[in-house]
Amino acid sequence: MADFKKPQMQLVDGLLVPKYMFKEDKVRSAMRFQPKSGDVIIATYPKCGTTWTQYIVWGILHDGSQPPHVHEMFGNEVPFLELTGAEAVEHIPPPRAFKVHFSFPYIPYSPKCKYIVVVRNPWDCCVSYFFHTKHMVSVNQFEEGTFEDFFECFVRGEVAWNDYFDHLISWFIHKDDPNVLFLTFENMKNNPREAVIQIAQFLGEEYGKKILADEDLLTKILKHTSFDYMKSNLPFFEPLDQEVQEKAGPGNLPAPKSENDMENFRKIDFFRKGKVGDWRNHMTSEQKERLEKRMREKIKNYPANFCTPP
Ligand code: A3P
Repeated sequence: MADFKKPQMQLVDGLLVPKYMFKEDKVRSAMRFQPKSGDVIIATYPKCGTTWTQYIVWGILHDGSQPPHVHEMFGNEVPFLELTGAEAVEHIPPPRAFKVHFSFPYIPYSPKCKYIVVVRNPWDCCVSYFFHTKHMVSVNQFEEGTFEDFFECFVRGEVAWNDYFDHLISWFIHKDDPNVLFLTFENMKNNPREAVIQIAQFLGEEYGKKILADEDLLTKILKHTSFDYMKSNLPFFEPLDQEVQEKAGPGNLPAPKSENDMENFRKIDFFRKGKVGDWRNHMTSEQKERLEKRMREKIKNYPANFCTPP
């Protein structure tokens, strides 16, 4: 396919990020973020289960409390560093958790910091990323783009946060590091209970002991982080123009303040399907095979069994 539409992007020190909403200086400051001992960084490629993991981590750190709205989550609770920049989050007291979409070479690294990495199969990731990119109109300006267009971008690595396969490998190499917890979206779906326990144990002995001793706490966290609960209770809004975005507070992720303010925003179906294997509803067998081929080429040196589509 010689000619295809691309989402609007900008290049910041070799990293593609969406052209709108993300500011060059904040992305750069996120790259230079200095983690403190005990900080937790959730590091994922987009659409691989980041938000789900943010809510699980938040629930564990906050004793299963009622979860905050997505805008609060991304801006202040488990801030999205490329969006907020590092300066806006300096004041947050420990225990601190952050979200980034950086591959390993871009990660603000400290051996005293913990990294939770969630990966997802490329077929579902590509489909999920397409819908996200198309629906976030003011961020990507890709509303006319088709799945075919997006697929070409994805398979060539010409999407925000760069190539899926390079990202996966960059973290795969570190999967057994003592300060890395390497999870897959598919395993989390298969056994969310086990995933929550694993994450709690990784966050610290006290959290691990507590979750095993307190069935009510575990049940509450599982309820608040289930797909159905998140889809029904956590609306997500995109600002309709740059001005609304510019006026935003320190977290820089504005949300409507009242019913009257709704005209400045569009509601986004952020929690779309949450399934394994939805790619089958959108991808041709040729597209499936092209991703399979790239996967085999990329991971031939690594003993991973990620090559077969679910
Ligand atoms: P789909 O588009 O396939 O539905 P991210 O948070 O990294 O952007 O990932 C988004 C993907 O994770 C979306 O996938 C979304 O629906 C899914 N997701 C979010 N919360 C989930 C949950 N609690 N359980 C299962 N999937 C979830």
